[in-house]
Amino acid sequence: MIRIEGYTQYFHRGGVNEIRALEQVDLHLAKGDFVTLIGSNGAGKSTLLNGLAGVHRADEGQMWIGGRNVTDWPEHRRAAYIGRVFQDPLVGTCASLSIEQNMALSFKRGQGRGLSLGVKQQDRGFFREQLQILGLGLEDRLKASVGLLSGGQRQALTMVMATLIEPEVLLLDEHTAALDPKTARQILELTGQIVAIKQLTTMMVTHNMAQALAYGNRLVMLHQGGIILDVSGEEKKNLTVEDLLAQFYTAQGEAFASDRALLC
Ligand SMILES: Nc1ncnc2c1ncn2[C@@H]1O[C@H](COP(=O)(O)OP(=O)(O)O)[C@@H](O)[C@H]1O
Ligand SMILES: [Mg+2]
Repeated sequence: MIRIEGYTQYFHRGGVNEIRALEQVDLHLAKGDFVTLIGSNGAGKSTLLNGLAGVHRADEGQMWIGGRNVTDWPEHRRAAYIGRVFQDPLVGTCASLSIEQNMALSFKRGQGRGLSLGVKQQDRGFFREQLQILGLGLEDRLKASVGLLSGGQRQALTMVMATLIEPEVLLLDEHTAALDPKTARQILELTGQIVAIKQLTTMMVTHNMAQALAYGNRLVMLHQGGIILDVSGEEKKNLTVEDLLAQFYTAQGEAFASDRALLC
């Protein structure tokens, strides 16, 4: 379904500030895989999602989405197959437009139908049905301006919009990190529901190890631009936060050791 092979991503390549954010990353996702992605700050989690979405051009490697080699595709072309939700609830929706206008824009994504703000009557029923999944009553407020919604409501709406046309892959980059704990829990539960109902192939970045364990069928840990742990199924179910911390400290220790080796 998703294939990433030998993906290497630099920033400021060749300059004094050169950063190798990802090095030779291989990752294959089967249809319906729900991967939680963890790793310390700067590990390369966002770069991996951005790279797949086409925000950056890969320095090395190849990528496939649903059998299509998208390596040379620009971001807007890949967008037809990708749903994304970011950390900031303000990013995914347009405040000055109504709920239904926002949804209509997402619905047209990748269909080449232009970006008019008109909402077709026949689409309205579908939008209502999709909003009902959230259980927030937004289906009765189709004409309300999105600027009036709370952060949590907006993030819930963004989730629905990102999955309105079922994407081949759903990319969630710490999409609950900016919300208060209760709202974050609700959005996470909704995420689990939507992914399960639509059986979406999903990559979810989270800072929270307990969440990474509780959600998905597979867990991947990135460290300094490389995958250091990739577990699924029963093995994932048996993992504990302590196991993850131990893995993390081992990786850090190895980094220290190699740093020392370089200095000696
Ligand atoms: N647009 C960018 N320009 C320059 N450096 C970047 C850019 N995006 C990420 N980086 C760098 O790449 C590395 C990986 O970053 P990122 O993927 O954002 O990490 P994570 O999401 O795991 O915290 C970091 O060193 C970060 O500073
Ligand atoms: Mg990040």
